[in-house]
Amino acid sequence: MPVERTLTIIKPDAVAAGNAGRIIARLEQEGFTIVAMKKLALSEAQARGFYAVHGERPFFEDLVAFMTSGPIVPMVLERESAVAALREVMGATDSLKAAEGTIRNLYGTDIERNAIHGSDGPDTAEVERAFFFSSLEQA
Ligand code: RTP
Ligand code: MG
Repeated sequence: MPVERTLTIIKPDAVAAGNAGRIIARLEQEGFTIVAMKKLALSEAQARGFYAVHGERPFFEDLVAFMTSGPIVPMVLERESAVAALREVMGATDSLKAAEGTIRNLYGTDIERNAIHGSDGPDTAEVERAFFFSSLEQA
């Protein structure tokens, strides 16, 4: 199994609730190495850019408002099969349907306020890592 990198974001709901540390600890327990990490607040334009793939979806404006509602913690994570492994530990998009013990089950509220983002494939991961971190920051 190849070692790969993915991009995660601890979303504004989880940061505001004081759950960032617990989520970071869980990711380390799951075997991820934190290659890069920062805390920042997205501008509206940045949030629109990051989620541009969802631009035509009915929930897009709500999603932009949510993702700009407070600081977030993006991280580059490394592990064997990092993309799929992260999606598994995150759980389903809808926190209310996420499997017992997943991060969204533990720390999410609903289908929008779901605590954590994870890239959905290796190509997306590369684009999303570069959105937040320079090559020097994730060397
Ligand atoms: P993410 O991209 O954040 O890792 O989440 P995901 O792949 O599980 O879900 P995706 O379909 O990519 O949706 C991106 C984010 O938009 C919000 N959302 N709201 N109100 C709704 O029906 C709805 N659907 C999605 C969530 O915050 C979701 O994570
Ligand atoms: Mg997604």
